[in-house]
Amino acid sequence: MSSEVVAALVTEPGGVYVDGTVGGGGHAAAILRAAGSGARLIAIDRDPTALALAGEALDGWPGAVQFICGNFCDLPQLIPPEMAGAISGILLDLGLRSGALDDPERGFAHRAAGPLDMRFNPEVGESAADLLARIEEAELVQMLSDGTTRANPRTIARGIVRWRGQRKLATTGDLVACLRATLRRSATPKLLSSVFATLRMAVNRELEALDTALETLPGLLKMGGILCVLAYQSQEDRPVKRLRDATFIDPSSGAGYRMQPLSRKPLRPTREEGLRNRRALSARLRAFRREAATT
Ligand SMILES: C[S@@+](CC[C@H](N)C(=O)[O-])C[C@H]1O[C@@H](n2cnc3c(N)ncnc32)[C@H](O)[C@@H]1O
Repeated sequence: MSSEVVAALVTEPGGVYVDGTVGGGGHAAAILRAAGSGARLIAIDRDPTALALAGEALDGWPGAVQFICGNFCDLPQLIPPEMAGAISGILLDLGLRSGALDDPERGFAHRAAGPLDMRFNPEVGESAADLLARIEEAELVQMLSDGTTRANPRTIARGIVRWRGQRKLATTGDLVACLRATLRRSATPKLLSSVFATLRMAVNRELEALDTALETLPGLLKMGGILCVLAYQSQEDRPVKRLRDATFIDPSSGAGYRMQPLSRKPLRPTREEGLRNRRALSARLRAFRREAATT
């Protein structure tokens, strides 16, 4: 949905833009092309491999891009203080890069044999295997209930706890074997994908990062600046949609402001795009403009 993102996001030629999930740099390149000469881009990703790829994709804009390995929820601390309130547009394209999904060493996919890692940054935090080794059964039920998993969370949680008491749960294959032993014929590829996605979101605390970002990123935009969020899961889209109801206070002036949605409904991919890229099928794009609050 690159052209829809650019059309909503890039309203100021030569402005300062943030791609908080730069991935392979596809959207970032489109933003820089549209924003024209003098534009600057802060390119952020938690995944060092993504940043290296983005570096190659954006080498046609020397000096215009600052690369930061970090979490977009820490953006206020990652950018120079004078940039706060001066940003023309921020993009968050949530979730996982397809290249990372296809890399067996990252452990994101049930179809690819590898270590059960799932960290966006393999140097930071707890892997999926470590999380599954220590999590209490009740917490696991909660995690699965909050996630995208359609199957009974209690059955899956009990199956994982029983399995880890007797066998290793260290690889993607171990988790698939455990789920198949627990769910038998219900362990369809779709269900395995949803359990893996839920686990990945928990390992990387993705919803927590999004909640924090939705509270703090609007304050970094200038008046009229745009926040665009591409969400692929309903749990991600729900808090994004609620942004339209929030009122913010600018700490320096005490003035109220809000994030006005640019359209009532989210933009969805065209049928052609869905056919080209199956992952895009579930995408929802919401864009908001920072505006003064009227009482
Ligand atoms: C869907 S991909 C983005 C693809 C990108 N728009 C492109 O054009 O290639 C999402 C990227 O966001 C990164 N990511 C996910 N959550 C993040 C967070 N909280 N902070 C920074 N990066 C994050 C992932 O590592 C992944 O590279």
